[in-house]
Amino acid sequence: MKPVISIEQLSFTYAGSERPALSGINVTVNPGEFIGITGPAGAGKSTLVLCLNGIIPHFQRGEYQGRVWIDGLDTVDTHCTEISRKVGSVFQDPEAQIVASTVEDEIAFGLENFGMEPEMIEARITDALQRIGIEGLRYRSTVELSGGQKQRVAIAAAVALRPKILVLDEPTSELDPLGTKEVFEVLKQLNQEYGLTIIVVEQKINILLEYIERLWVMNEGRMVADQPPRQIINQPELLTGVGLQIPPVSELVYRLKAAGYYSGELPLTVDEAYWALLKCRGGKG
Ligand SMILES: Nc1ncnc2c1ncn2[C@@H]1O[C@H](COP(=O)(O)OP(=O)(O)O)[C@@H](O)[C@H]1O
Ligand SMILES: [Mg+2]
Repeated sequence: MKPVISIEQLSFTYAGSERPALSGINVTVNPGEFIGITGPAGAGKSTLVLCLNGIIPHFQRGEYQGRVWIDGLDTVDTHCTEISRKVGSVFQDPEAQIVASTVEDEIAFGLENFGMEPEMIEARITDALQRIGIEGLRYRSTVELSGGQKQRVAIAAAVALRPKILVLDEPTSELDPLGTKEVFEVLKQLNQEYGLTIIVVEQKINILLEYIERLWVMNEGRMVADQPPRQIINQPELLTGVGLQIPPVSELVYRLKAAGYYSGELPLTVDEAYWALLKCRGGKG
């Protein structure tokens, strides 16, 4: 399969900064992957996202080395508009990225910028709202929406442009647990039903591990792990080593395992932990 993203020896140092924000990143992404990025503050997660949507190197000064190919195009030689047709972006703060006063206008905004015909825009709006499952919000005023609704509108606006890749930088950091779940449910559906390639930066490790198929752990500008959630959770030091916590259910069973009450894989979910704990009964306790 031809990778949809290919990153080769990517390093970036912001102008005026001593230390590189990214160092020697090498990674490829196949179409339809659902990837999570986590890591402590300052790890380089946002910088990596900016390299994917072309803001680096086009709008950010600094020293750039290596190559990023998006759908076969080298981002250095590709106009940002062209990159934005392939990579949709959603950011942290729902307030900052919503520009229009109604949901419908918000979704139309990007399409109009692409110079699309009005009938086509109409069809795309209907389709995007349907894909995200927010048809009921179409005529609502954007200021009245909840945080979770705003982020789903931002995702709908990105999806309306029919990108191959959707990158989201901490889209749930301003949201409560319900809003967070709403966003991840939408991402899961877009990934499964439409094969959209998704890369999401997220600090809430529990929810990330529940939804994604591949996790990138970053620290000090480097990619320190690139594995499926189950493999990561069974090597807890990959997360604890960079100052991150493993999910409480995994931690509990990890401790029981270390104390000799359990042998087997560490659980990712409450359901799995339940079965792991039942198995513990025959243990030394
Ligand atoms: N605009 C900028 N100018 C200078 N340094 C920056 C800028 N943005 C981020 N950095 C630095 O780059 C490093 C990585 O930052 P960032 O990619 O934002 O990390 P993360 O998203 O993982 O918290 C940090 O050391 C940060 O201070
Ligand atoms: Mg960040």
